[in-house]
Amino acid sequence: HFAPERASWRLIGPVTGLSTQRCRLVYSSLGHSADVCLFYVKDEFFAMDARCAHSGGPLCEGDIEEADGVLQVFCPWHDYDFDLRTGRSGTSLQQKVHEVKLEDGSVYVKHASRLSLRPFPVDPKS
Ligand code: FES
Repeated sequence: HFAPERASWRLIGPVTGLSTQRCRLVYSSLGHSADVCLFYVKDEFFAMDARCAHSGGPLCEGDIEEADGVLQVFCPWHDYDFDLRTGRSGTSLQQKVHEVKLEDGSVYVKHASRLSLRPFPVDPKS
């Protein structure tokens, strides 16, 4: 029921606000499974799908560690590692990552759906 959209740059918000937290959950208009984590680590933003490719764990809540210059997030559910830059894991899994750009003091993520810091009203729970 969603028309497929091409990936394009989606405005997330101002760098000043987004760089105060290590990770933010960014909601996708396609729903839960397409939500994105926006990480801010060592003065750099990284965006990857928010639900772990293994079983859907919340990567925003994962620990981040650096080893040999590679930043990795560890899924809080089963501790699988994912490279923040590439989404590659020491397991055979691949987490989807998204391009990020900074322009005029704002953060943009390239994504096929609309993105927002607030949930989209797709889920009619009362
Ligand atoms: S759900 Fe992330 S490692 Fe299992």
